[in-house]
Order: sequence, then C-alpha cells, then structure tokens
Amino acid sequence: MKQICVVGVGYVGLVTAACFADLGNRVIALDVNEQRVENLKKGVMPIYEPGLDELVKRNVSGGRIHFTTSYAEALKDAEYAFIAVGTPSGESGEADLQYVEAAAKSIAQNMRAALIIINKSTVPIGTGDWVADIVKSAQPNPNEFAVVSCPEFLREGSAIADFMSPHRTVIGSMDKDAANKVAHLHLPLRAPIVITDLRTAEMIKYASNAFLATKISFMNELADLCELVGADVKEVAAGMGYDARIGRHFLDAGLGWGGSCFPKDVEALAFMAKEKGLNPRILNDVMDVNNDRRKDAVKNVTKMLGGEIKGKTIGLLGLAFKPNTDDMRYAPSIDISAALVRAGANVRVYDPVAMEVARPLLSAEVTMFKDPYDLAKDCDALMIITEWNEFKQLDLEKVKGLLKTPVIYDGRNIYDPKVMKEVGFTYRAVGR
Ligand code: NAD
Ligand code: UGA
Repeated sequence: MKQICVVGVGYVGLVTAACFADLGNRVIALDVNEQRVENLKKGVMPIYEPGLDELVKRNVSGGRIHFTTSYAEALKDAEYAFIAVGTPSGESGEADLQYVEAAAKSIAQNMRAALIIINKSTVPIGTGDWVADIVKSAQPNPNEFAVVSCPEFLREGSAIADFMSPHRTVIGSMDKDAANKVAHLHLPLRAPIVITDLRTAEMIKYASNAFLATKISFMNELADLCELVGADVKEVAAGMGYDARIGRHFLDAGLGWGGSCFPKDVEALAFMAKEKGLNPRILNDVMDVNNDRRKDAVKNVTKMLGGEIKGKTIGLLGLAFKPNTDDMRYAPSIDISAALVRAGANVRVYDPVAMEVARPLLSAEVTMFKDPYDLAKDCDALMIITEWNEFKQLDLEKVKGLLKTPVIYDGRNIYDPKVMKEVGFTYRAVGR
C-alpha cells in the first residue's frame, strides 16, 4: 500500500485516483474546484464515464480514496503526487501550462517530506525540467523530490479498462531510483514498462496522439477519393488492417477527430516544431484535412437537400465527440450545428448523455429532443454525428415514416448502404 496524491479530478485524475485506490493504495484526490470535490464526497461524478461511479463508490466505502481541496491534507503523508490538471490550447496553439504551474507551486508549498512528483498531464517537451525548477524555488523548506513523466494513454469511454490494461507504461526521469519506484507502482497493471529520460517520455505521448490522428486524417483523405472512384473506404480499412504493420485501429473515416486531446496535442506538437524553426508539414496537413471534414459534412447534406437548407429542419443524432462520454470538447457537432444555423436551417439535436454539457456550447436556436424518434418527426434530413450504439439499430422503417423527406447523412458509417437503399432512404455515408 502506497500513499498517493492525485492533483486534478477530471477525466484522467479521477480515473487514475480510483484505479490506484482499487489496486489497494491509499489515495487522496485533490481539486481546486470546490463544487467538484463537494459532489464527489456525496458520490456525484463530475463526468460521465462508464463504470466510474461504481468504482469510486466502492473505493470510498473501502476507505481507500478521499477527496479534498486542501494541498496540505493531500500531501501530508504522500509518497507520490500525480499532476493530472488540464493543458488546453493557448492562443497560438501552444499548450497552456498555467494549471500545471499552479499545481507545481502548490505542491512545493505544501510538501513536508520527500516526494515523487509525476506528470500525468500531457505537457510540452521540457516541462518536467521546468516543473522541477518551480518546485525547487517555491519550497519553503527544502525537501528531496524527483520529477517523473508518466503520460496517460487512456481513451474516454473506456478509461477504466484502458488504465487497468494499458498497452505500455511509459516512465521518464533523470532519477533512476524515482523511475523504478514509479515502475513498481504500475507493476500490477502487467504492461510492458518503457523507462526513458524525461524529455523522451514527454515526446512519446505527443508522438502517439499525433500518429493516431494522422492515421485518421489519412483515411479521411482516402475516403474522398474512394467516393469518386467507386471504392468502399470501410472495406479498404478492413483490407489494410489485416496487415500487422498497419493495424486495423484508427482507420475509421468519418467526421474526423475531436475531443480534448488530439486537436490540442497535434497543434501543440506543431507549435513546438515551429518554435524550433522546423516546418511541421505532415502535422499541418493532418489538421487541415480534419478541419475540412466538418465543412464537407454541411456541404454534403446541403447537396442532398437540393442545394438549399434555409428553412429546412435538420436533426443531428449525437453531440459528444465520441460515444460513451459526455465530453464536448472540440466535438464536430458544435461546428456542424453552428454552420447549419448560420445557413438558416432549423436544427434539432439529441444525445444520450451529452445534452446538458452541450447546451451552453450550442446556438440558442438549436432545439434539444429527448428521443431520436421525436426528433426525426417532420425533419427534412437526419445527420449521424456520433456513433452511439443506440443509433445503430434504430427502427429504420419508423424513422422513414416520421421524416418529411427520407434523407440521411451518415457521418460515422454506421449503416449498410445497401439496406438503406432498400428501405428507401436517400442515403450518403463517408467514402463509400
Ligand atoms: P479535465 O479538464 O477533465 O480535468 C482537469 C482538472 O484539474 C479539473 O477538475 C480542474 O478543476 C483541475 N485543476 C485545475 N487546476 C488545478 C490546480 N491548480 N490544482 C488542482 N486541480 C486543478 O482534464 P483531463 O481531460 O482529465 O486532462 C488532464 C490532462 O491529461 C491533460 O493534459 C490531457 O491532455 C491529459 N490526458 C487526457 C486524457 C483524456 O482522455 N481526457 C487522456 C490522456 C491524457
Ligand atoms: C485519445 C487517444 O486514443 C488516447 O490514447 C489518449 O490517451 C487520449 O486521446 C488523450 O491523450 O487524451 P480519446 O480522445 O478519448 O483518446 O478518444 P479516441 O477514441 O482516440 O478518439 C479520438 C477522436 O478520433 C474521436 O473524435 C473519434 O471519433 C475519432 N476517431 C477515432 C475517428 O474518427 N476514427 C477512428 O478510427 C478512431
């Protein structure tokens, strides 16, 4: 049993805290957001993540996890402090490190004994050294400490399984002893452990996200060509994916990548390259291809409706940036609904879990529906924006009967074009 402090109880921090507690450690999870901490004490989760509610509650009742807003309390007996605060995009695309800086200062001011500080947030290369400088100069009394990078690779929607069974654990530090201790903490996960220097570990995280985003943009570019030459991008992906050198994952064409990480991380990596005098050509194109997906979806549905969407009613199924989360950060639904409203369409939306989070991010003119069938009634077209399971087996005959015109733009390729034709839809998917 180790004593662990986790700073920041968002998607990564709360999952990290709950999973380490579940592995038998004593965890104190801290956040500066008092409301979040109060709610967590009452058992109310700040985010929607499958399985998290039960995991947190079980470990709270087992006495292995506590929540606080006090750094002094959180660090009192801590041997490890994970920093899991946000690193959003700054004004020029750089990672905004203000939360990491604040967390590092607070840790320095409140640590009372030797501590291993672990950066779990995704941070620019060199941040570990910078955090070490901050801690060194902000400590009232010098205590021994080491800074270790241990980037997180979980995905929202499957965060607990990803945390508990990672493909690898990456640990970067200039302090071998600290790196080994952090490795020991991760042994129960039984994943390959890659120990590197600090900067290399920080780069592995950016490189991994940027590479996955590149795979998706590549397939999206290919999807446009597939449409023009009569190939099916879904089958192309399947055919490519059997080659172990390529792999089947992250080859799904559609509306492109959104979320809290790929957009900001690809941009931040490009920013770092530019800052060093390089021209990140691939990363720039990967971002351009992705940004065009949202505009193209609006163009395509407009075409399907005869070139004019002013006064037409368009229903969006799905708002979250991906299924099984309520995260709306950089979700395609935000840009797509805004473009449709600007063009004069009446926009309706439905999402199984993200409606509350989405409301302030959407135009006031967007109408929310609590059920996909109610939403479909009298719509001129439906657009599939997020591939939630509940959309995959809708009663298509019923939907067709409810729509004013049977038009579906499937931005996530969840339906079989042949079946859609048979039912009588005017159907368009991506790259097929
Ligand atoms: P988040 O916005 O969900 O949560 C961040 C939390 O940190 C918030 O609750 C906030 O109140 C808290 N916080 C901010 N400043 C603080 C401070 N000084 N002290 C204590 N708490 C503070 O963020 P997230 O999505 O969990 O991402 C955190 C980091 O992990 C980012 O760097 C992100 O890139 C990285 N990451 C995220 C994911 C993901 O799926 N979301 C996956 C891997 C890595
Ligand atoms: C992603 C990475 O997969 C995680 O490894 C990483 O830890 C995380 O970012 C992070 O650093 O925050 P996440 O953003 O939760 O995880 O979700 P993904 O499943 O990777 O999807 C990202 C986006 O790509 C979504 O918008 C999704 O719809 C899109 N996507 C994904 C595609 O368009 N096609 C695909 O084949 C796969």
